[in-house]
Amino acid sequence: MLTLQPIGTVRSPYSETGQIPKGPGARHLAEGVLEIRPELEAGLRDIEGFSHLFVLWVFDRADGADLLAHPPTDDRPHGVFATRSPRRPNPIGLTVVELLGREGPRLRVCGLDMLDGSPIVDIKPYLSSIPAEQIRRGWLAEAEQRQRESATPAARER
Ligand SMILES: C[S@@+](CC[C@H](N)C(=O)[O-])C[C@H]1O[C@@H](n2cnc3c(N)ncnc32)[C@H](O)[C@@H]1O
Repeated sequence: MLTLQPIGTVRSPYSETGQIPKGPGARHLAEGVLEIRPELEAGLRDIEGFSHLFVLWVFDRADGADLLAHPPTDDRPHGVFATRSPRRPNPIGLTVVELLGREGPRLRVCGLDMLDGSPIVDIKPYLSSIPAEQIRRGWLAEAEQRQRESATPAARER
């Protein structure tokens, strides 16, 4: 058993999952606030220097878990650990957000894809040292290729 205490709460414009963009080409531009517990504010010192943050949070409204997930980006199932499905054995979410500003223990951010009230378990600076050409996108790249091939000529021109 593992017990974690949330460090804060996400304040997002989304009260229902249906409001959150998903599927091919979905862009996450929603702004909101990461409200960190005031007694942890000292832990945010120097965070302003980072443009982007990793936010680890909990899918607190997920209803169970499935080992096979059906992502909206594909018509084929995939192992849950090869997806970002909320229905996972440990319901932990990971979102990269842009840090817009900080007022004390409140971080204003852009790029939210979580429901209002989602518990935050950790925040870390976003850093990546992996060159883009070394990154493989697995089934997602294949699904995107199939979608491009099946698009009508008119849709392809748009
Ligand atoms: C596909 S997951 C990706 C989340 C995160 N970027 C990740 O990769 O872990 C995003 C979806 O999770 C669902 N979701 C968001 N917040 C949730 C919450 N607090 N509890 C349960 N489901 C949630 C919504 O359907 C949303 O579209």
